[in-house]
Amino acid sequence: MENLQIKTFAQYKKAYKKSVKDPETFWEEIANTFTWHKKWDRTLEWDFRKPEVKWFEGGKLNITENCLDRHLEKLGNKTAIIWEPNDPDEESRYISYRQLFVKVSHFANVLKNNGIKKGDKVCIYMPMIPELAIAMLACARIGAVHSIVFAGFSSAAIARRINDSECKMLITANEVYRGSKKVNLKEICDKALEDTPSVESVIVYRRTVEPTPMKEGRDRFWFDELQKVDKDCPAEVMDAEDMLFILYTSGSTGKPKGMVHTTGGYMVGTTYTFQNVFQLEKNDVYWCTADIGWITGHSYIIYGPLAAGATTVMFEGIPSYPDYGRFWEICEKLKVTHFYTAPTAIRSLAKQPLKFVEKHDLSSLKVLGSVGEPINEEAWHWYNDNIGKGNCPVVDTWWQTETGAIMISPLAGITPTRPTFATLPLPGVQPALMDDNGEEITNLNEKAEGRLAIKFPWPSIARTIYGDHQRYKEVYFSTYENKYFTGDGSYRDATGNYRITGRVDDIVIVSGHNLGTATIENAIDEHEGVVESAVVGYPHDVKGNALYAFVILYDQTEPSDQLRKEIRDLVSSTVGPIAKPEKIQFVKSLPKTRSGKIMRRILRKIASNDTSNLGDTSTLLNPEVVDDIIGGAVITK
Ligand code: WTA
Repeated sequence: MENLQIKTFAQYKKAYKKSVKDPETFWEEIANTFTWHKKWDRTLEWDFRKPEVKWFEGGKLNITENCLDRHLEKLGNKTAIIWEPNDPDEESRYISYRQLFVKVSHFANVLKNNGIKKGDKVCIYMPMIPELAIAMLACARIGAVHSIVFAGFSSAAIARRINDSECKMLITANEVYRGSKKVNLKEICDKALEDTPSVESVIVYRRTVEPTPMKEGRDRFWFDELQKVDKDCPAEVMDAEDMLFILYTSGSTGKPKGMVHTTGGYMVGTTYTFQNVFQLEKNDVYWCTADIGWITGHSYIIYGPLAAGATTVMFEGIPSYPDYGRFWEICEKLKVTHFYTAPTAIRSLAKQPLKFVEKHDLSSLKVLGSVGEPINEEAWHWYNDNIGKGNCPVVDTWWQTETGAIMISPLAGITPTRPTFATLPLPGVQPALMDDNGEEITNLNEKAEGRLAIKFPWPSIARTIYGDHQRYKEVYFSTYENKYFTGDGSYRDATGNYRITGRVDDIVIVSGHNLGTATIENAIDEHEGVVESAVVGYPHDVKGNALYAFVILYDQTEPSDQLRKEIRDLVSSTVGPIAKPEKIQFVKSLPKTRSGKIMRRILRKIASNDTSNLGDTSTLLNPEVVDDIIGGAVITK
C-alpha cells in the first residue's frame, strides 16, 4: 500500500485525475495490495438506473484476514486496540494484533457452536468495550452479517431492527458504565426480545459483577461459551459482493433504513481513505471518539484502521466524566497522534473553561479530524487553536452511512484547509453540484450553491436497503437521473472546495446523531392525547440542531408540562433519549398544503425564530394557522 500512499498535493491531483479517467484501473491497483484467495473476475459493474453496483465480483477474500492474519508476521506484537475505560482508575487494556486474532477466532467458534452460519444475521448491542470489536470481527470471520445497534437505543428500536433483518442471535453485555451512571443493557434487551421471534440465542458479556437474570435455553454467558470451543477458526471465504454488515440509519419515513455493505469494496474504500486522509505513520496512535454503533466507528475505529495495521483507541466513557478534561487526559496518557471527533463534542468542550485543556500535554497530537455534521467557524478555530495549537491540520471529513467511507476531505498536511470546508473530493469520488432545476452546475471556477449528488460509483457505496431495494432506488437514485443523491446541500467556492451546508430532507442531525423526524412523530402520535405532530430541527449552539415538536391535542386533553414530560418519555422509550424534543408547542393545527402535506419549511422557520420571511404561504390550505402558531410560539418550555 505504501507506494499508493499520496504524499504531496501534486500526487493527489494526479491520483484524482487518474481515478476519473480510468476508475477501474485506479481501484484495481489499490485492491491488489490486499490479501485475496482469488482475484476478481470483473472490477466494476454498475447501473445507477437499476440501481446496481458491484465491485470486484468473483474476488474471494475474508476481511478479517486483511485486518488480522496478514499483519501477524510483521505486526503481531503491535498494539491493535487500546481500550480506555469509563473510569480513569480502571486499567486500560492493550490488545496486540496477535491477541486480537486469537480472541476473534475463539469467539467466532462460539458463534458457530451456537448455530450461526455464513449469511446469518447477528444483532450486536454492546457498550464500547473490546468485546464489541471482537464480536463484530468474529461475525465477519465466519461470514455472518453483523447488525450493530447503538447502545443508546431503546428496546423498541432494537426490536424493530432485529425484526427487519431477522437476526438469529443477539450479543450484548449485562451493564454499561456511562459517566457516573450504570445502564442495564440486558434489561433493555430482554424487553426488546419479547417481540423478536427470529432470535434463538443471546450471548451476554459480563461488564460488571452484578447478578444478571438469564433466560433458560436462550441466554448464555460469553465466558462460559468460550470454554466450550477451541481457538482456531479458519476464515470463511467470501465473495467480494457478499454482505458484510447491515447498519440502520434514519430515513425520511418512519422506518429506519438497513444499509447493506458488502465485503471487498468496503474494505478497499475504508482502508484507502483511512490511510490517505489521516496520513498515519508507523508508531502513531489514532483515536476516533465515535461509537462503534455508528458508521464512523465501523469504518474508522475498526475496519479501516485495522486493515491498515494501525493502533486504534476505543473509549468507553464520555467527554465530561470525571471532568471536561477527559478527552485531553486520554490524549496525553496514550500519546494520541490522531484525534477524530464530532463538532458537537468540540462545541460542548469549547464551552468549558480552558483550564481543562491547559492541564494536559497535547504535544503528541499531529492531526485533528471532524465528522458527522457541518463544523461551524467558531468550533473549527477553537479546535485548531486550543487543541491543535495551530500545528495540526484539521481534516473535516464529509461522508455518510451510505457512502461507507470518507468522500470529501482534506488529506492531512497535504490539502490546504479552510475553516468549515470539507474541501476536495477524494480520488475516486465524483461529486456533482445540482441546481434547482436538477441540472449539474459544471463550472468549477465559479462559486455555486446547490444539492450534492455523486455521479460515479465508488467501492464502498451501500448496495441496497436490506429487504427494500425499491426504497433504495427511490431515496438515492430517483431525484437525479443516473446519480446518487446525498440528501445534503452544499456550497462550492471558485476553487472547487466544498462546504456541506446540511440536510435538505427530513433528517435532522442532533449532537451528531441522524434522526428521522417521521420516526419521532410516530412516537409522539402514540400518546393517547395526541392527534398529530410535526417535528423539525432548529439551530442549537451545542447540539448543532435541536428538535422542536408542534403537537395537536384532542379537545379533551389539557396542555401541561406533565404532558410534555410524558411525550418526551414516550420518545425516549420508543426511539431513544437522544431523540427527545427540546421544545414542545401545543398547536390547534399544522400548516398544510392542499394535498395534505405538512409544510415543514414554515415550521422550521418558526422553530428557528426566523419569521420575517416565511416565503410563499399562498399554497397553504389553512394559511391562518401560521399566525396562530407564531403567536403561540412563545408558549414553549
Ligand atoms: C452529515 C456520518 C458536514 C451530512 C459519517 C451527512 C457532515 C450525514 C459531515 C451523514 C461533515 C457528515 N460536514 N456534514 N464533515 N459529515 N455530515 O450517516 O449531513 O451518520 O449526510 O454518517 O452527516 O450522517 P451519518
